[in-house]
Amino acid sequence: MSTSPSIDQSKLRSVEHRLRLEHLVSPTEPSDDELHPGSDVVRGLTQTPKTLPARYFYDDRGSELFELICELPEYYLTRTETEILQQYAGAIAEITGACELIELGSGSSTKTRILLDAYQDSGQELIYCPIDISAGILESSAERLLLDYPDLHIHGFIGTYELALQKLPDSELPTRVIGFIGSTLGNLNPQACDLFLQQITDALKPGEYFLLGIDLHKAKAQLEAAYNDSQGITAEFNLNMLRHLNRRFDGDFDLTQFEHVAVYNEAQRQVEMHLKSLRSQTIHLKALDLTVEFEAGETILSEISRKFDLDKMQHLLESKGLMPIRVWTDQNQWFSVLLCQLK
Ligand code: AVJ
Repeated sequence: MSTSPSIDQSKLRSVEHRLRLEHLVSPTEPSDDELHPGSDVVRGLTQTPKTLPARYFYDDRGSELFELICELPEYYLTRTETEILQQYAGAIAEITGACELIELGSGSSTKTRILLDAYQDSGQELIYCPIDISAGILESSAERLLLDYPDLHIHGFIGTYELALQKLPDSELPTRVIGFIGSTLGNLNPQACDLFLQQITDALKPGEYFLLGIDLHKAKAQLEAAYNDSQGITAEFNLNMLRHLNRRFDGDFDLTQFEHVAVYNEAQRQVEMHLKSLRSQTIHLKALDLTVEFEAGETILSEISRKFDLDKMQHLLESKGLMPIRVWTDQNQWFSVLLCQLK
């Protein structure tokens, strides 16, 4: 059996022709993290109470575990948002027309594909601009999309959201949509959320769009089940952060001496995920020259996941000039997708 190399090559060429990837990280102004890798880990573990940045969840294993979380029966978020997008993607394409779709944190492109399908079906031209800090993930997912969407052009940017929002070149199509789905906004505390929305406003021109997916406040029992699944995948996801830190910074966290804890703080309306030390212990991260003491029962806050009130979110968006022109939810009002337009 032989395959024709010429066919494969022309396919590859056509894929390459439709793919542009740019690095946003300017080598003349390296970020604090590039200058001092792990400085955020040192900061988090030396303060009281201890914290760790949620982005350390996502090494290769962590990304894989997150994909598994999205399939869990208790984790209603992904399924519900997908359902909303399937129902209204056509309306989104119709409202915006031909556009650049900029996606912050592209991850697995399952939900993005719903939007790509809608633009393809409506015959509206689309340039897809994924933004991710991982060049590898960006490249491999872009190549897969280009094979599946023969007319799609991808212009990806490697870098942080902040840098991307500051340095995006002008749109090559009549308008632009910044997409921030998956309720990642929930990881930001109110102050960081405010700043982030301001950066969105600054990155858009009047008339351009912001597509936001958010998880909504609901019964404590349902929320706690979503973050304490019966198969223990979320626990593994949380503990994997310590494994990641061990590898990255030559550490000696003993994963059997920490426990996953997730509780819904009803007053703050946020799920708080912790890593709880099961005994008093001392850990080292040699590459950071760091020694940390834990008391028995002491916790590290590894993530907050805020659960929003839809009315309050609409008001917050309006106060930033991001007018919600369509607000969609599922039957149960568990999750919401908002299409906003800058005033
Ligand atoms: C990807 C941030 C939306 O907060 O629900 C899932 C991450 N953490 N289970 C969330 C997560 C634990 C997720 N986000």
